[in-house]
Amino acid sequence: MSNGIHLIFLGAPGAGKGTQAHVIAEQYQAAHVSTGDILRQAAREGTEMGLKAKTFMDSGHLVPDEVIIGLIRERLTHADFPKNWIMDGFPRTLAQAQALDQLLAEIGQDLTAVLNIDVPLDLLMDRLTLRRTCRKTGKIFNLKFNPPEDPSLYDLYQRDDDTPEAVEKRLKVYQEQTQPLIAYYDKTGKLADIQGDLEVTQVTEAIQEVVNQRNR
Ligand code: AP5
Ligand code: MG
Repeated sequence: MSNGIHLIFLGAPGAGKGTQAHVIAEQYQAAHVSTGDILRQAAREGTEMGLKAKTFMDSGHLVPDEVIIGLIRERLTHADFPKNWIMDGFPRTLAQAQALDQLLAEIGQDLTAVLNIDVPLDLLMDRLTLRRTCRKTGKIFNLKFNPPEDPSLYDLYQRDDDTPEAVEKRLKVYQEQTQPLIAYYDKTGKLADIQGDLEVTQVTEAIQEVVNQRNR
């Protein structure tokens, strides 16, 4: 018997991790843990950690591992944390992946699958610079690929790190520090490659197929 659905969404900036996690979390009644969203929220609230993180984020650098690992530990070890969860944008360094392995061993949980959402690099600049997110619902749109039918229904904003300069840096950081996790998780047998340049609903279906198969 599985002790819950435990997913990692891996993928470059703009691959669609947040878009897919939003839908999949609702479907499986899972907590959607986006380290990026947690840091942006902390920055909006003006906490010391949030303001410090924002300087890393806006220039496209990663926030230090110990800060991120602390945030995850706090959530995963909380008594009320849901049985099913999705990590969106965590881990993204080898040190974070090793810390997660240790934490899961401590709390006696297994990974169900690591979904590597794969999108050709040349699509990502448009996806990110034309992204708009709703402040109220967290729903993610794109002015070109995925526009809202009625924009007046949403409170749309553009992320501060979606400038061409910051995106260039984020893609480079992804290739150097996060891409090696594909091989790391492939070795554990947990990796599933998902073609991410299809329609949003088709990508969702491919993820559901893997989750249902691995969660038997
Ligand atoms: P984070 O918020 O995680 O950003 P990211 O990894 O750069 O990824 P994005 O959120 O930009 O992309 P996404 O894959 O979620 O794509 P989305 O669904 O929005 O992190 C931000 C920063 O926080 C980092 O740079 C770092 O500083 C810090 N940070 C966070 N986690 C950290 C960690 N673990 N360690 C250290 N630092 C950390 O989609 C993108 C666009 O594409 C949207 O416009 C969407 O509408 C569109 N789209 C989605 N799917 C499709 C599709 N199938 N077809 C066409 N368009 C699509
Ligand atoms: Mg995201």
